[in-house]
Order: sequence, then C-alpha cells, then structure tokens
Amino acid sequence: MSHKDSLKHTIIVALLLCVVCSVLVSGAAVVLKPLQTENKEYARNRDVLVAAGLYDPAKHDKSYVEDTFKAFSVKLVDLQTGSYLTAEEEQQLGIDPATYDQRRAAKDPALSERVPPKEDIAVIKRQAKYAMVYVLEKDGRIDRVVLPVHGYGLWSTLYGFLAVEGDGDTILGLTFYEHGETPGLGGEVDNPKWKAQWSGKSIYLPDHQVGITVTKGGAADLSDPYEVDGLSGATLTSVGVDHLVKYWMGENGFSRYLAKLQAGGV
Ligand SMILES: Cc1cc2nc3c(=O)[nH]c(=O)nc-3n(C[C@H](O)[C@H](O)[C@H](O)COP(=O)(O)O)c2cc1C
Repeated sequence: MSHKDSLKHTIIVALLLCVVCSVLVSGAAVVLKPLQTENKEYARNRDVLVAAGLYDPAKHDKSYVEDTFKAFSVKLVDLQTGSYLTAEEEQQLGIDPATYDQRRAAKDPALSERVPPKEDIAVIKRQAKYAMVYVLEKDGRIDRVVLPVHGYGLWSTLYGFLAVEGDGDTILGLTFYEHGETPGLGGEVDNPKWKAQWSGKSIYLPDHQVGITVTKGGAADLSDPYEVDGLSGATLTSVGVDHLVKYWMGENGFSRYLAKLQAGGV
C-alpha cells in the first residue's frame, strides 16, 4: 500500500475537505446575507404596492418600487384598541416597526395570543397582538392602507395583503405572496382576473359587521358590493380566503382600526 492510500492520509484529506467546504458554505451564507435581506425587503415592498394597486410589472422596475414604497409609512397597530403604538409603547415592548416580524411575533408568548378555536375561522391558532400596517398619506389625509392577512386554504396557509382606501371600507386589492395551493385550482388566487374582482368592493355593512363574502364559484352577483365570486373547482381554497378575510376584517383583526379610519382618524 502506498503512503497516499494509508488510513491516516485518507482521514487527513477527508477532514481537510470538510473544513474547506464548511468555510466555503458559511462564508457564502455570511456574504450573501445582506443581499438576501435586501431581496426579501424588495419583495415585501413590491407586494405591498401590488395590493395597493400601484404596481404594473410591465412598466415598473426595482427603482420604481423603492421610490414608491418610500411614500408609505410603516406603523404598528394594537389590534385590541385599533390605535397605533406610540414610540414609548414600542420602546416598552422592545419592538421597532423597521425590524418587526409579525410572523415571528405570533410565536412569541409575550407578543401574541392564542386564538380560541371557536373564533379561529382562519385556522391560525395564535395571532400577534400588534400588526404591521403600511400607510400612504396624501395632502395630510390617509389615502390608502395595506394590511397583512393570512389563513388556511386547502393545503396551506395563504399569506397576503389587503389594501383598503382611506375611508376604511373600500377594498383596493387583495394579493397573496405565499401559499401552497394547487396551480390551476386553488392557485388561481393569483390570477389577475380573479384578483381584479376585489377592487371597489365594500368590507362593512352599515352596522360595521363584516359583509364581504367570497361565494361559491359562479354564484356571485357581481353588482353586489359585498360579493366576490369564488374559484370554480377550488371551493375549499375559496372558503379559506372567505374565512381569512372575514377574520382579519373582524373583531380579532382590523375592525377597530378601520372603524377609526372610517370615523376620520386613528
Ligand atoms: C390533486 C388535487 C388538487 C386539488 N387542489 C385543490 C386546491 O388547491 N384548492 C381547492 O379548493 N380544491 C382543490 N382540489 C379539489 C378539492 O378536492 C375539491 O374537489 C374542490 O375544492 C371542490 O370544488 P368545487 O365544488 O368548486 O368543484 C384538488 C383536487 C385534487 C384531486
């Protein structure tokens, strides 16, 4: 047996290979981290603009997204009161709107609450007490707000944004940025034609109960301001979307915040 084939030599080569590979992999992770964070932030900002009806993929590029998103202020809403958190409250809670991660907060016992099963129509189990909202002001008035929403469909939790006009009632758009529904069936929630139906619909009945409803596919009266047609062949995903919108527009969600917007101020 040559010196090269000795057990000692084989182990040294294997160890060296492990060290070199792990340095390369962890080096790449460290070097790429800022780029990943930047891309994640860009994707989030773009999705906010999509929901708000301010994005056209044919016309708009990265700098458009960055510049337009700058006009939005990111705020934290206390869902119990429907008011924005003050700087002091944010400090006391140790949270900062610039870095707040609502999905992570929903797992933190100090920042979240268990949703009682009877009320959990969106099947989310826990929810963050504070929600991130994106607010666009124009001429000193709230022009539109973009609200994060999520809930279970057939196979997955759908995460998205619902944009509402400054009147706290008229929907501008609904878009999902993450889900695992079947392409061509539940995945049709991403179809621009289906999404276009949401624009102009009303959320609340005169008594401020949630009126907006996703019907069974083909059953909606499209002239009804509260009806959105469900997806044909994907009733279960449609029911999931109906429930998640009702949940987040309801008492556990943004109802108090949007009532304040409707009344003219938060
Ligand atoms: C492979 C496969 C994937 C499916 N994916 C979905 C889906 O993503 N969303 C959905 O609502 N239904 C999906 N379905 C259909 C449901 O099982 C169910 O039949 C449907 O939601 C009923 O809708 P309909 O009453 O409009 O036909 C899928 C069915 C199969 C066989």
